[in-house]
Amino acid sequence: MNLTIIGSGYVGLTTGTCFAEMGHHVICVDNNREKIRTLQSGSIPIYEPKLEDLIRKNVAVGRLEFSPDIASSIPQSDVIFIAVPTPPNTDGSVDLTYIEKVVREIAEVLKPEMGYKVIVDKSTVPVKTGEKVRQTIKRYAGPDVQFDIVSNPEFLREGCAVDDLLHPDRIVIGSNSERAMNVIKRVYQPIHAPILETDVNSAELIKHAANSFLALKISYINAVAKVCEKTGADVELVAEGIGMDKRISRHFLNAGLGYGGSCFPKDVKAFINISRTLGIPFTLLEEVERINDSQHTHFLDQIRDRLWVLKDKKIAVWGLAFKQNTGDIRESISLKLCEKLRKEGAIVTATDPKAIGTARSRLEELGVTPVEDMYECARDAEVLIIATEWSDYANADLQKLAEIMRNRIIFDGRNILSPANIRAVGFEYHSVGRPFIEEA
Ligand code: NAD
Ligand code: UGA
Repeated sequence: MNLTIIGSGYVGLTTGTCFAEMGHHVICVDNNREKIRTLQSGSIPIYEPKLEDLIRKNVAVGRLEFSPDIASSIPQSDVIFIAVPTPPNTDGSVDLTYIEKVVREIAEVLKPEMGYKVIVDKSTVPVKTGEKVRQTIKRYAGPDVQFDIVSNPEFLREGCAVDDLLHPDRIVIGSNSERAMNVIKRVYQPIHAPILETDVNSAELIKHAANSFLALKISYINAVAKVCEKTGADVELVAEGIGMDKRISRHFLNAGLGYGGSCFPKDVKAFINISRTLGIPFTLLEEVERINDSQHTHFLDQIRDRLWVLKDKKIAVWGLAFKQNTGDIRESISLKLCEKLRKEGAIVTATDPKAIGTARSRLEELGVTPVEDMYECARDAEVLIIATEWSDYANADLQKLAEIMRNRIIFDGRNILSPANIRAVGFEYHSVGRPFIEEA
């Protein structure tokens, strides 16, 4: 099939590439000309495992193209996917101006002689947005254009987006038209995954409800972690114990500094806002947010307790990305910590395997020194903070670290180091919801 994807960011570029890998002909469009030039020249603007190889392969066989222009791609496409940003407004509501603009642009290109088109929203949007999209296209394209609207929310995680797209737990297709439903089922035919067919409103709501539920699981275990800290229990064992119950599952029960990224913070806010607007405040989610916001400030309180005064103390931070296996720093908890440490006058160095480039200008603003090598970053530090769950950090050479740091003190905000290894080298070790280990 011939597909256009509008918006070639994390979702659009990865989805478009995976559709090409499935055998479709795909044009990935973006209004950021620089991004399109980068892609056309064979470079990839983001770090996402497995993506680069798939892009090269599908470009080489002519199934994947990049274009700055929807006017030439839409006429040749059966399906048009929208994957543009839906960032939060200051009151938590969703900024739908990117979606509305793209929808108007699509409408202005559509002509009756182009035949039937399916317009699919992949961006995360509030329930009932599809209806607005339908009305807007009708208004700007005129009555004779044949089209249907579909909501097809995306559930990929950054850092494993290609695997999530090619092997999803489920595919949700929301449409009020059987014809459109069948077209989108054909798009996904090469993928072996259960398909849930719904109406448009339910599909839109599934996305906000799913992300909010995952965020709730994280805040739940983080609240349990605080109880563990007061009682000497170990949150890792508690998570294992409750996660062995299939009804609960161990997934997304990793205690730590809380959730960051471009999705959970904004989607929880959006769902709170949507419910409030409907007159049914979702106060449970307000608590999820409050717990998440308190995770890194509580962690910082513990560092302050230990060092007394942070001013002029050298603190090393391992990890800048909002999670492992990505260079994305949007809503990164690590950067929030760096900002607060700098405000108190600490001397901060920071490192990350993939995010130093994306973080560089923010680090400069904050006065944080970026260091490529993780051990050099920790040299002479009074405290090492682990802020992102990279496997490089989990497998760190602790003996080497002990030799170069000023104090043997680690604050592990992601619980990735093994207490047995810590004890063997004799570090003082603070983590989240696990027993404190004193320096040997
Ligand atoms: P992104 O910022 O990485 O990419 C969006 C792209 O859209 C950018 O390249 C931007 O230049 C382009 N764009 C904006 N306006 C445009 C226009 N008028 N015409 C053409 N291109 C335009 O965003 P993202 O992370 O890919 O997220 C996109 C949507 O998908 C959001 O609604 C997000 O909530 C949702 N989502 C994201 C993820 C994720 O892991 N990042 C996962 C699932 C769903
Ligand atoms: C999340 C969802 O997992 C995806 O299904 C969804 O498609 C996406 O949001 C979206 O809508 O954009 P993503 O934000 O890429 O994906 O990454 P996650 O793996 O979910 O991690 C999000 C944050 O939660 C990270 O900061 C991570 O460190 C934190 N986290 C995750 C925990 O603190 N504990 C956990 O157990 C899991």
